[in-house]
Amino acid sequence: MGQTVALITGANTGIGRITALRLAKRGYQLILAGRSAERTQPVIDEIMRLGAGKRPHFVPLALDDLDSVRDCVRRVLALDLPLHLLINNAGVAGLKGQTKQAYEMAFGVNHLGHFLLTQGLLNRLQSDSPSRIINVASRAHWMARSIPWEDLQSPTRSITGVSEYAVSKLCNILYTKSLAQRLKHTSITCYALHPGVVATEIWRSVPGFLRPLLRLRPMLSPEEGAATTMHCIDHASSEQNGMYFADCRLAAVSPLAAQPGLPDRLWHFSEQACLH
Ligand SMILES: NC(=O)c1ccc[n+]([C@@H]2O[C@H](COP(=O)([O-])OP(=O)(O)OC[C@H]3O[C@@H](n4cnc5c(N)ncnc54)[C@H](OP(=O)(O)O)[C@@H]3O)[C@@H](O)[C@H]2O)c1
Repeated sequence: MGQTVALITGANTGIGRITALRLAKRGYQLILAGRSAERTQPVIDEIMRLGAGKRPHFVPLALDDLDSVRDCVRRVLALDLPLHLLINNAGVAGLKGQTKQAYEMAFGVNHLGHFLLTQGLLNRLQSDSPSRIINVASRAHWMARSIPWEDLQSPTRSITGVSEYAVSKLCNILYTKSLAQRLKHTSITCYALHPGVVATEIWRSVPGFLRPLLRLRPMLSPEEGAATTMHCIDHASSEQNGMYFADCRLAAVSPLAAQPGLPDRLWHFSEQACLH
């Protein structure tokens, strides 16, 4: 086999940065997709210092703008590289508002942007299979009581943005399920995971009054937080296609995430949303 290529979203910091460094150490050719070339450059420099020899490509990607996602897909395909691993890692928590196309912010960034990115890269992943897709979800999906379909095209309604975050992470799990079902006759597998509660910049948008609550539990380091992503890359099997992991093993999803029909409904909603 020639070079192994992985695309990671949100690799300039946090769990994504550690994942990028780990894969670079193994000699992967990396494509780092993110909002800022400037903020990604220190990670590219770190990778070059590892001496693994392959300079990562930076590709601009703003997940809150579906046009930027389409442009990212075009640029990735134009690199004319194979693609073996897609890690949908970027995310926001507690950030309120709407995306460029007026979807609720957490839903738009965490789910819809990654949905469109993944759909755009499926043919490339298929032609270079066996390949895998890793969706970084969260145990916070247990907090979602329903998908408020009618609110997905409105600004964030809650004060903290936490309930919208929970819905977006539920969507990561439902999407992983749908995708596995649709790809079952291919050699692409996909997995969702909870990385743990990790000390990263993800908490920057959470209102100040909630921060002391976050500190009540000890947090993992980003190095520890990347472990379940690496587990899914290295050890998740084809029998586990579409499943959800935490602490480097299979984990239970919430009753809502197991509800029949919901993955399909989300799939159709997302497809419609991405047509425009
Ligand atoms: N940390 C935790 O405790 C925890 C727990 C459960 C799940 N997770 C999940 O783990 C994943 C990684 O989070 P993290 O903790 O490493 O957070 P982080 O340090 O805040 O990193 C998030 C990454 O997402 C990128 N991003 C945010 N908005 C974006 C947008 N609109 N377009 C493109 N990229 C965007 C950020 O880029 P910028 O630097 O440009 O903002 C950054 O690179 C997320 O999916 C998160 O939901 C984290």
